[in-house]
Amino acid sequence: MARAFGKVILLGEHAVVYGVPALALGLDRGARAEASPAERASIRIGEHCAEAGDGSELGRALVALLEALGAPPLALHVELELPPGAGLGASAALGVATARAALDRLGTAPEPGDYAARVSVAADAWERVYHGNPSGIDTAAASEPVCLLFTRGEGAERVRVGRAMPLVIALAGPPASTRSMVESVARLRDRRPEIVSKAFEGIRALVTNARLCIEVGDLPGLGKLMDLNQMLLSGLMVSTEGIENACEIARSAGALGAKLTGAGGGGAVVALADIDPDPVLEAWRAAGLSCFSAVVPASERGP
Ligand code: MEV
Repeated sequence: MARAFGKVILLGEHAVVYGVPALALGLDRGARAEASPAERASIRIGEHCAEAGDGSELGRALVALLEALGAPPLALHVELELPPGAGLGASAALGVATARAALDRLGTAPEPGDYAARVSVAADAWERVYHGNPSGIDTAAASEPVCLLFTRGEGAERVRVGRAMPLVIALAGPPASTRSMVESVARLRDRRPEIVSKAFEGIRALVTNARLCIEVGDLPGLGKLMDLNQMLLSGLMVSTEGIENACEIARSAGALGAKLTGAGGGGAVVALADIDPDPVLEAWRAAGLSCFSAVVPASERGP
C-alpha cells in the first residue's frame, strides 16, 4: 500500500502562500492507498465514493490527479488516518497517497527524483480542486514525516531537529475550509495591504528564529515564537474563540507555546510540551477537547 503523512505547520501558515518560508512537521499518521485497473476511474475513501465525471469535488480531484500523471482509469481505495478539514493536511495526504498508488500501478520505475516530482505535480493538481491557491507546503509535508522549511516556488529543505519535540494536538472547533480562510486573508490584504504585509514580515522573522531554535533544541524559545505567531494570526482574523481558549488551556497546563495550525477558522491547535505531554492532554480532555500527542524525534545526523 502507498503511504503519505499528515502535518502540522509549526510556524508560517498563510504567510507561506505569499512567499514567506514556513516550518512544517510530517506526522506519523496520514493516508494509505491502493490502485487497481478499472474501466472507469473511481475512488473510495472509507464510506465516501466518487467517480470520474460525477461532478463531485472528489471526482474532479481524482480526474485532475490521474491526468497530471497521464494514468489510465484506476479504482483507488484509500484509508484516511486523520480528521478531515482540521488543518492537519488530510487532503494533501490523500492526494500524495493516491498519486503514489497510481504511479506504483503504472509499473514504470522512474528515477527517485522523477518519481517525487511526478507525485508532487499530481498531488498539487488534486489540492487545487479543493483550494484555489495552495502554497504546496501540505503536499511537501505529506511526502515524508520530517521537519521541513518550505518556501513557495523554491521547495522544501530538511531541518535538523536538535532535541525531540513533544507535541500535543487538539481539535479546537469544527473543521473550516482552507479555501475560504485563504480567501479571507486575501481580502484583508486587498483592504489593508500595509497591516498584512507587516504581519507577514513579522512571521518571516519568527520563522527564521524558530528554525535556529529547532536546530539547537531550544524548546522554550520555540514555544515563545509559536505564541507570537498565534498573535499575528489572530491579527489576520483566522483565529476563533475556540482556538484562543484551547491555546490558553495548554499554556496554563505548562505548554511552552500553543497556536492554531493550518488554515484556522476552527480545526486544530498545536502545543509544544517541555518533556511530558500528559498535563496538556489531561487539561484538554477535561475541557472536552479531542486530542493526541506526537513526538518529533531528534535528528540522528545533519539534514
Ligand atoms: C494550510 O495547511 C496552510 C495555508 O498556509 C494554505 C497553504 O499554504 O496552501 C493556510
